[in-house]
Amino acid sequence: MTKKGLIILFVFLILIATLGIGLFFLKNDNQINKMPKNEKIILPEPEKDSDFSIEKALSNRRSIRNFENKELSLEQVSQLLWAAQGITDISGKRASPSAGATYPLTVYLVVEKVKDLIPGVYKFIPEDHSLMFILEGEKSTALKNAALGQGFIENAPINIVFGAIYEKTTNRYGERGIQYVHMEAGHAAQNIYLQCESLGLGTVAVGAFDEDRVREILNMSEKEIPLYIMPVGKK
Ligand SMILES: Cc1cc2nc3c(=O)[nH]c(=O)nc-3n(C[C@H](O)[C@H](O)[C@H](O)COP(=O)(O)O)c2cc1C
Repeated sequence: MTKKGLIILFVFLILIATLGIGLFFLKNDNQINKMPKNEKIILPEPEKDSDFSIEKALSNRRSIRNFENKELSLEQVSQLLWAAQGITDISGKRASPSAGATYPLTVYLVVEKVKDLIPGVYKFIPEDHSLMFILEGEKSTALKNAALGQGFIENAPINIVFGAIYEKTTNRYGERGIQYVHMEAGHAAQNIYLQCESLGLGTVAVGAFDEDRVREILNMSEKEIPLYIMPVGKK
């Protein structure tokens, strides 16, 4: 090849590289621009049937604290949130029972590694099976620190956090409603355990944490009290 040919080839390669780098940054910028605060992400439709029996899920269920360093898919996230509080009836009733259908539980998703989601805090909206983007950034280290340093929280690709607005239930049932809210958190958490089994994932219900710190990390309202942190990942 002539010297002139080499120069043209060199300039051409530089142009291609510049274009590639430009497109890379444009793509990442778009991803962030696509998710301003309060942006909604409609989740994929959850599966309502599978060949994995409920008996198998019950007998295999264990609390898992070691997770593979692997990202989860949006389909897996959708399935887990549906199991927790998804709407399963045209009346608005959900996968978990609720005293008088008052539905005091709130569900947050803390993302470290999920395909097509940037790391941050999201709130699950059962009504249209969507996620609302609340905060950007990796929060799992702060969450681990708020939970007495339980390291598996930091190592999980996601953490599902249950909160509760007690007055939704106590307005109807008085003091007794407090117990009802705690019972409901147990139902919803068990649904996550069982759904994890069916998806080949693992989880553990974590109750030992500093309430105020977790509320702060997730930007929860003053009325909400965090009840459970459930790290989830591939076992
Ligand atoms: C209310 C409650 C709080 C819990 N808190 C924690 C916790 O903070 N950290 C933890 O590692 N496990 C926690 N666990 C999980 C228990 O340790 C676990 O369920 C128990 O050891 C039985 O094991 P299994 O779930 O594998 O059957 C909690 C469980 C419940 C029901």
